Amino acid sequence: MPEEKIDLFSGLSPGYDGVGEFYDLFTDDSDIPFYIQHAEKMGSPILDVAAGTGRVSLALAREGFEVVALDCSASMLADFSRKLQQVPLPVSGRITLIQANMEQFKLKQRFSLIIIPHSFSHAMTTEAQLACLHCVRQHMSENGLFILDLYNPEAQYAHARFEDLPVSIANGRTVERHGEISSDSDRRILRVDLQYIVRSADGSIVETVKDTSGAALISDVEADLLIRKSGFEVISEAGGFDNSPYDTDSSRRILFLRKKRRK
Ligand SMILES: C[S@@+](CC[C@H](N)C(=O)[O-])C[C@H]1O[C@@H](n2cnc3c(N)ncnc32)[C@H](O)[C@@H]1O
Repeated sequence: MPEEKIDLFSGLSPGYDGVGEFYDLFTDDSDIPFYIQHAEKMGSPILDVAAGTGRVSLALAREGFEVVALDCSASMLADFSRKLQQVPLPVSGRITLIQANMEQFKLKQRFSLIIIPHSFSHAMTTEAQLACLHCVRQHMSENGLFILDLYNPEAQYAHARFEDLPVSIANGRTVERHGEISSDSDRRILRVDLQYIVRSADGSIVETVKDTSGAALISDVEADLLIRKSGFEVISEAGGFDNSPYDTDSSRRILFLRKKRRK
């Protein structure tokens, strides 16, 4: 009997279950000054969609902003909540955690700034992306700003393996992160397989934790259509958190959006 081919790309979940403490060891925080700069322009309240363990929300709350942090993962939010217990009350008191799906949330509040750092592509279908954008629009104040942080899809097609330098944690242990990115260009999705390897001081493996997540490859044309269809208009765009112009070599496409104005 012919062997059945396994479809590596079907049923990919949002992932991130039980990996929050490891996730935090390997983050790139170069976007934090960028978000603070825009928070200073727009003011509170801020909605951090797919906030994870609070990397950006916490930085904003430390600067005095009121933040509602939403994520679908109970596990990531539990790690976020643990971090909140370790920060001064005035900071933790500015953050509200909400477990919800970014594709279908309904809050009473309206926000002057909405952000989705590193996460919009986890909405893996056009329907999911439209649903997420619809929810975001519903929650924006009339003159609010929505910062849509997208990866540059041109930079993402290649199959890639990577290995990060080990990070030291307590008791002489280290954590390594190994990753593999596979893409299905027909279905325009990525699969990201991560392995966190914890080693004791003598180098022996204590624990290996795996995490798989999926992400959509969103072309510029698709993004432009999604935005228009969702009732937004582009104020400006950038190719990085240093506000450099967007071009085909940029690692990101960052769009500054507002509600489309009636002519
Ligand atoms: C790459 S992490 C980014 C976390 C955080 N924004 C940051 O920049 O550190 C992606 C996050 O998206 C969340 N996520 C994925 N799909 C989601 C969905 N449909 N609704 C809400 N959160 C989602 C995951 O649980 C995870 O916390």
